[in-house]
Formats: sequence, C-alpha cells, structure tokens
Amino acid sequence: MQKKKIYQSFLLVCFVAVLLVGFSSVLFQNQPVATASGADHITLTWAGDPRTTQTITWRTEVTTAAGQVQYAEVTESKLLPNAAKIAIAEVEQLFTNMGSMSIHSATLTGLKPNTRYKYQVGDGSLWSEPRTFLTAPSKVSGFKFLVFGDSQSINYNTWRATVQQAYQANPDAAFFTNVGDLVDVGQDYAQWNAWFDGSKGVIDTISAMPLTGNHENYTPERKFSMPIFFTAQFKVPMNGPENLKRQVYSFDYGDVHFIMLDSQAGEEASFVPSMLEMQKTWLEKDLENTTKKWKVVFSHRPLYNNKSGGEGENVRRAFVPILDKYQVDVVFTGHDHVYARTYPLKNDGLVDKLTKGTVYVATGRSGSKTYNDTIHKEWNEFFYNPVDEPNYITVEVQGDVLGVKAYKQSGVQIDAWTIDKKATGSK
Ligand SMILES: [Fe+2]
Repeated sequence: MQKKKIYQSFLLVCFVAVLLVGFSSVLFQNQPVATASGADHITLTWAGDPRTTQTITWRTEVTTAAGQVQYAEVTESKLLPNAAKIAIAEVEQLFTNMGSMSIHSATLTGLKPNTRYKYQVGDGSLWSEPRTFLTAPSKVSGFKFLVFGDSQSINYNTWRATVQQAYQANPDAAFFTNVGDLVDVGQDYAQWNAWFDGSKGVIDTISAMPLTGNHENYTPERKFSMPIFFTAQFKVPMNGPENLKRQVYSFDYGDVHFIMLDSQAGEEASFVPSMLEMQKTWLEKDLENTTKKWKVVFSHRPLYNNKSGGEGENVRRAFVPILDKYQVDVVFTGHDHVYARTYPLKNDGLVDKLTKGTVYVATGRSGSKTYNDTIHKEWNEFFYNPVDEPNYITVEVQGDVLGVKAYKQSGVQIDAWTIDKKATGSK
C-alpha cells in the first residue's frame, strides 16, 4: 500500500513537471520576438562609403556590454532575427550627468549599392524592432538631402514636429544634416534623450551627418567642454584634423563633396588652441583632393552674419580665401536662427554670377528658439526671420543643377533658388 502511494506521488510529480515544462515552452514560443533589447537612440551615419557601408550606433544600459547588428536585404528579411548576417559592434562607455551608458556602433561593409536592407540591433538574443535603410546608388543621377537649422529647445517637441514633417514631405531624402546647436546644453544628457526621441523614425532610416555648434560645447554648469556627447554618438568619418576628428570631416555622395567645419574657436581655445589654423591646412588639402562637381560646406557660425557686431569674422578670415580659391558653391550656416542667403560672394565682395562666387545660406531654426535682433545685412539677397514657425531646407542635386528650397515646418515655401553650372545667366 505504502509503495503504491509513493508510486502515485511520483507519477503526480512527473505529470506536474511535464505540464510546467510544456507550459513554459508554450509561453516562450508565444512571446513576440523580443523587443526589450534595451537599445535606443538608434542612429544611422556614414563613417565610410554611402554606396557600400552603413554605420549604425545605439545606446544601452552600461550593463549591456555586447552588441551586434543582424541585417539582410529586404527581399531576404525572413532571415531576421537569427539567420541573417551579423556585424559585431564596438562598445564604449559614455559617462554622463544621467549616469553611465554603453554606446554600441557597427559599420556594415560590402553592401550592395541602391539596395534596401532590413536590420535589428541587440545583444545576440534580444533585438530591437526591425528598421530599414537604403544604400546610395553606384551612379547617382540625382538626389535630395535635408538641412535643419539649430534644434536647441526647452521642449524638443518642436524639433520632433520639424524633423518628422520634413521627412514625411520628403521621404526620398537620402540623408539629413543639422548645422549645429542640436541641443541647448551639449553635455547634459537629458537634452540628448529628448533630441533622439524626437528624431526616432527618421534617424534610424536615413543617415544623419551633423556638425557641432557652440551649444554642444556647454556643460550644465555653463562651462566649456569639448563636444564629447556629440562625437560619442555620431560616428561620422574620422578623416578630420587630429584632435578634431568627428567634429571636422568630409564625405562624398553622388557628385557632391561635403565638408563639415568646426567654428567654435572660442569655446575650444583651451582644448585645441590652434583649431582654425589646423582646419585651414586640412580644408585646403581636402578641397585640393576632390574632383567632385559640387562642393558644399557647413559651418555653425555664419561667415557672413545676420546680427549687429562682428561674430564669425575670425571664421570668415580663416576660411573664405580657401573657399574662394576652390570655388565652393554653397556654405550652409546656423547660429543666427534666420533663413537668409547672400548674393554670390568672392573676395568679400559681390559677383554677378552664382557660378563665379559662393552663396552663404543661414539655415534658420528647427527648434523653439527665436531671435528678434537679427538684421537684413547688405550681403543678403534674401532674408526671413522664422519667428512664426520653425523651418527646414531641401537641397536637390541633379547633374549641373543644384536647387535649394526653404520651407516652414507646415510645408509653406519660404524661398527657392537654383545654381545651374551650364546656364549663362545668374539664375
Ligand atoms: Fe549657436
């Protein structure tokens, strides 16, 4: 009798154990593919060639020490999340006023040009939601990119609305850039949390190729710092001068050579004392080496400003002779929070044809901050202070024609102009 009871108890335990195992496996299988990877701030940039590479960077808790990207052509996306190609990320710790975190970054190489890929980031078992990106064609016939002025804000819902509406209206944009002052306090991580949250859906689908502004150099204590949070998060090309890598860089897309400069000579004086001199040498060499038809340069501080006073004159003195020498087509700037464009300028004077000089474009503002002390200067052919709505710019390059359009956040056009290298007139 005793033996029988023991045997029955044994059977009952086995039955319960089988039930539990079965239940847990059903539970496991019914789990959606894990999205709780803890990865956020997923950011696309190009550290390499936009035709064959894609750099993907994201942030996790500091305890997540390993990261990887799973990726496949969209046509083979059934391979995700566990049978696709893998790129192992490099991981670095970022120490911030909001605590430490891990920044993961991987550059996918050997990609097919003009191909849409699906990707997920994670730690090898838990994955983010899948997203896609498109590589550049091997021969670019024409393309569009978006330019955003200063997005620094108290409330980044303004930036969110600008970037989201701009991308919705221009889903064919190949990439976007910000001309500096992305955030109000560059070394306050709370600002970046809000900025990345507003950028979600765009920055993980098309590459961001931004540059720094003076506000990226500020600490919460209002002291100067190098733009550490910026350079940790935007893995742009490392081809700039020593000590200014990822703040100064150049890259090519189609027949355009893009150059991003750092105009924060004052803020960085105690860290990189001769930064303008270093950039002059680098800029001259960089422009000398390009064979691209179009040359487009970005500087946060305007070389021709829109306020009283001489802010930016040091940057103008440093760079304009080189920009003139190599016939740079357009220079986009920030800082003044106005949309303005100069007549074509050369040797600090007006020239009669766009193709003989350089047009300097103050990009406006994509965040909430406005100025009421801006001035329509004598070098401006067009001036608009976007106090009513934020704005953004689209640039389309098609062969010999570069077209620039400025829009209010709501889509109302502010300005449109073109440079035609084949045209004999000025426009
Ligand atoms: Fe600024």
